[in-house]
Amino acid sequence: MNLNKSDFGKTENAGNILTNEEALALLKDWVKNEKLIVHMQQVGHLMKNYAASKGYNVKDQYRWYLAGLLHDADWEKWPDSHCRIIIEELESRNVDPEIIRAIASHGPKYFGVEPVTEMDMMLYAFDELSGLVHAYSLMRPEGYSGMEVKGVKKRLKDKTFAAQVSREDIADASSRAGIDQDILIEFVIKNQIDALKNFDI
Ligand SMILES: [Fe+2]
Ligand SMILES: [Fe+2]
Repeated sequence: MNLNKSDFGKTENAGNILTNEEALALLKDWVKNEKLIVHMQQVGHLMKNYAASKGYNVKDQYRWYLAGLLHDADWEKWPDSHCRIIIEELESRNVDPEIIRAIASHGPKYFGVEPVTEMDMMLYAFDELSGLVHAYSLMRPEGYSGMEVKGVKKRLKDKTFAAQVSREDIADASSRAGIDQDILIEFVIKNQIDALKNFDI
């Protein structure tokens, strides 16, 4: 759904977060689908590791993680209002506007919000690609081990594989982020967690 909105949260809330416990409690409350939880944890983990790879401090790494962890939180319960509900929830809880904005721009085609900041761009870039790489790991007997960029690219070209994953979004996101697709794929292969992490559903 188009959000018809371009300002998210309040500037005075910069730096405000939900603790990991609070974020996981929200997910536990809203999401029953374990695959969706894995997806959000994967994207959160990629975001955190990417921020770390850029030398950002632990506080910032956590903010990046939170944007990834919560980006699809409302998808299961309110598919027609995705991602308006999670945005309203985070706004009402006075969360950092940068985190809210990143979530709001993770699908520019759908939500009508352009990714602007680096956090926005990378959430958009990791979202679909993470899903495709995970689907590929599930069909490989060795899972993630020994996975290569060229194998992922082959699946990207095969439009029947994980057909719900938007190839257009993946290409658009990596070009917006100004990161070569091979490098992005390599990063996802190396940094993706492959199962639920410390989360008791
Ligand atoms: Fe989404
Ligand atoms: Fe997603």
